[in-house]
Amino acid sequence: MEKINLWNWVDYDEIGSTNDVAKKAESKLLVTAKKQTGGRGRRGRSWESLDGNLFLSISLEVDLRYLGQMVFVAALSLAETIKKLSPSAQVEVKWPNDVLLNAYKVSGILLEKGEKDFLIIGIGVNIEASPKIEGLIYPAISLKEASIKTDRITFLKQYMNIFDANLKENFSKIKEKWLNLAKGLNQEIIVKDESIDKKGIFSGIDENGMLLLKKDGKTEKIYAGDVFFSSKE
Ligand code: BTN
Repeated sequence: MEKINLWNWVDYDEIGSTNDVAKKAESKLLVTAKKQTGGRGRRGRSWESLDGNLFLSISLEVDLRYLGQMVFVAALSLAETIKKLSPSAQVEVKWPNDVLLNAYKVSGILLEKGEKDFLIIGIGVNIEASPKIEGLIYPAISLKEASIKTDRITFLKQYMNIFDANLKENFSKIKEKWLNLAKGLNQEIIVKDESIDKKGIFSGIDENGMLLLKKDGKTEKIYAGDVFFSSKE
């Protein structure tokens, strides 16, 4: 088995979902694949497997108290990796799990529960190509389409360096860096969860990563949902 930093790493030619392999692990593990035949996205959506893109699952043991914070470590690290490759790129994070490049989705994260206290962080990064499907909930872009040159393995190694460094940070620092890149902060947003739409001012996140939505002088904590930005932007 190969290694990246202190992680054992296995790279498949083809697999259903890298998350399914990572779920069986009871140790720190990185699982990647050149091709996924059953890639999953959030909220029951599927994740297309386009050639040259990165499909990564990280299996790590996480104290339950910090579970909600992990996605911010993962997403911020993605944004920082892209910034490192292209300092002038317009990179933003979008609550809870997405990374945007030039306002399009370049990466998505799917958190799933593994064995015991293990958490699986499933990450898809559009390196070479992005899905061109009518009616996609968020239009997508790849690094290549934004003229950022890299490949899935180079990106993976750079990402893991940044991820490992961020894992050691206090959440207050992660939160500060994440909020600095957050799209729509202090602006009106709509959060859609199932059939309920909630409109308010996106005023930050709490220590568990819940979205703070301010409306009529009250702040509501939002646990799940898809965020949409006002069309005035
Ligand atoms: C989303 O934005 O909906 C999350 C997408 C997560 C996709 C990645 S690709 C690697 C890992 N394996 C999966 O089946 N899904 C995640």
